[in-house]
Amino acid sequence: MQRDVFLLSVVLLYCIIFLMLHSHLKRINNPITQKFIAKQQENDNTVKTTTAPTESGLVAEQGENVQQLQQPFPKKINILKQHQNKESFVIKRNYSEANIHLPQSIKPKLENISDSKANCSKCKKLPYSGSFQNISGIFVLTTFYDQRIPSKHRIRILAVQDAKDNRKLVCWFKNGTYLVQSYATKYEMCENHGRKFGGWIYSCLVPKGMASIKVVYLSLYTNNILAPLTKMDLISLTKTGTKKLFGVCIPPLFGSVGMTKLVQFLELNRILGASHFHFYLHNASSSVRVILNHYAKLKLATLFEWELPSVITNNNIWYHGQLLAIQDCLYRNMANFQFLLFSDLDEFVIPRKTYTWPRLVNYLKDLNKNHPSENTLGFSFKSAFFDPWQTPDNSQQLSYLQRLYRSKSISNVRTKVMIQPDKVFELGIHHVSKPIFENLTITNIDPEIAMIHHYQPCMVRYEPKMQCSPKIRDATILKYTKQLQNNYNQRVKELFKDFL
Ligand SMILES: *[C@@H]1O[C@H](CO)[C@@H](O)[C@H](O)[C@H]1NC(C)=O
Ligand SMILES: *[C@@H]1O[C@H](CO)[C@@H](O)[C@H](O)[C@H]1NC(C)=O
Ligand SMILES: *[C@@H]1O[C@H](CO)[C@@H](O)[C@H](O)[C@H]1NC(C)=O
Ligand SMILES: *[C@@H]1O[C@H](CO)[C@@H](O)[C@H](O)[C@H]1NC(C)=O
Ligand SMILES: *[C@@H]1O[C@H](CO)[C@@H](O)[C@H](O)[C@H]1NC(C)=O
Ligand SMILES: *[C@@H]1O[C@H](CO)[C@@H](O)[C@H](O)[C@H]1NC(C)=O
Ligand SMILES: *[C@@H]1O[C@H](CO)[C@@H](O)[C@H](O)[C@H]1NC(C)=O
Repeated sequence: MQRDVFLLSVVLLYCIIFLMLHSHLKRINNPITQKFIAKQQENDNTVKTTTAPTESGLVAEQGENVQQLQQPFPKKINILKQHQNKESFVIKRNYSEANIHLPQSIKPKLENISDSKANCSKCKKLPYSGSFQNISGIFVLTTFYDQRIPSKHRIRILAVQDAKDNRKLVCWFKNGTYLVQSYATKYEMCENHGRKFGGWIYSCLVPKGMASIKVVYLSLYTNNILAPLTKMDLISLTKTGTKKLFGVCIPPLFGSVGMTKLVQFLELNRILGASHFHFYLHNASSSVRVILNHYAKLKLATLFEWELPSVITNNNIWYHGQLLAIQDCLYRNMANFQFLLFSDLDEFVIPRKTYTWPRLVNYLKDLNKNHPSENTLGFSFKSAFFDPWQTPDNSQQLSYLQRLYRSKSISNVRTKVMIQPDKVFELGIHHVSKPIFENLTITNIDPEIAMIHHYQPCMVRYEPKMQCSPKIRDATILKYTKQLQNNYNQRVKELFKDFL
């Protein structure tokens, strides 16, 4: 009996070995591969062809070694493959400009309009895919070179895509006469809320041993080696030199914004410690543009035109694609700021023990001497509602200084964060969705130390413990009266010339 089992095993083993060898040989002489090669040669001879081979399964088949593939291909399109690791499968293709049509230069569409264009609301209507590059229906906003994980550099791609569309992007890098391909992994942003369109972060591992990388070529995930490529400039997430202290990111501006409130927002934040503001403009009125352009000219603000692709309407994406703008601001400013605050125009982070944010940061450092500060990625502030419709205190001139009554109870839901951007992978509207390393956490700040003044009628939605009354008088903001009033008056005088 045992002998039978032994014999059977030997026969089976032979069969398996034979089958493996056979399929191996068959793969080399695979008729489909041959057909593909023939088609390839045909394409090679007819330059500028648009039809391309699709049947090869070229990309999906892994493990074939370089020699086998290199042999049958025409010298002109020399394809090499190597299996790098689970995350990226590298293909190299020897490109000839005529054949593969490397795009010359496509500028990123999310354009910095801080120059003269910012004051013109009608002349800068971007066509069709808005601030995004349309890659066959996957809309790419910006691309970044992320070196935060030393041995694994990655390209980060911010994109908006139909949630049901499971197609993916692929990164290509130019290396000498080769293009090197690296698959992208796809990460869904946390706050898409089940809408038809949502935000995604694609990541491509950068193959080792590449010279400095300034651009990436993107295509759909496909086994068509002649797929059209879109060239994107990369923004580096690391930089030598000193960083500015505090940047403020403001999500896309919609509808009307009061001019005096806008100037108060900018001036009070500057007193608090803001070094720079980042605005995304959507249908902003011309007076808002004049004001923001004034700050842009003084290098205090950077302005971007925010236009979603035409297929996306307000109902089929969460909150006008705000999450995309937040991630863009986070990544774009990562190299330049120690801290970024994400704030709406009706919110202020007001320290109660100190006057400014830099002092607040030092105060918090002293407070937490025992904790290693490398583990904290930033601060989360709770908020209190100051109803803008309350009876104003007429002893003050500026509207924010006139609103001194707030809800006694503090909102634990409507928090806002001030973070060290290089420690964050993804940001939500009210919280950090994902840090770059798991061991990083956010510090919740006691409202006695600092809190958000939120100039909105009180809301208790999503928060059973929140109560809108009683209200208490809170005059903390009055410590800024003198400086704010001076700076405001001075600024309005300057702005007046811009409106003439
Ligand atoms: C790549 O293709 C070009 C022709 O387009 C050829 O001159 C060159 O030798 C090829 N390079 C390699 C490494 O095969
Ligand atoms: C935007 O353009 C202005 C003016 O050319 C420039 O000073 C600023 O650095 C640019 N900002 C970004 C984020 O590219
Ligand atoms: C608006 O832009 C034009 C150029 O497009 C420039 O001549 C003009 O001075 C700008 N006006 C303001 C108020 O910035
Ligand atoms: C995006 O490109 C695809 C073709 O690649 C086209 O069918 C679609 O209409 C474009 N969409 C927008 C909004 O530009
Ligand atoms: C890029 O080219 C360099 C120089 O030819 C080579 O050493 C390196 O291995 C290439 N990198 C990849 C990922 O192909
Ligand atoms: C643009 O804003 C104006 C008012 O500021 C509003 O009437 C108009 O409907 C808005 N347009 C769009 C497309 O949102
Ligand atoms: C956090 O984790 C990263 C990656 O695992 C590690 O490099 C870093 O030293 C850790 N930091 C601390 C403060 O433990």
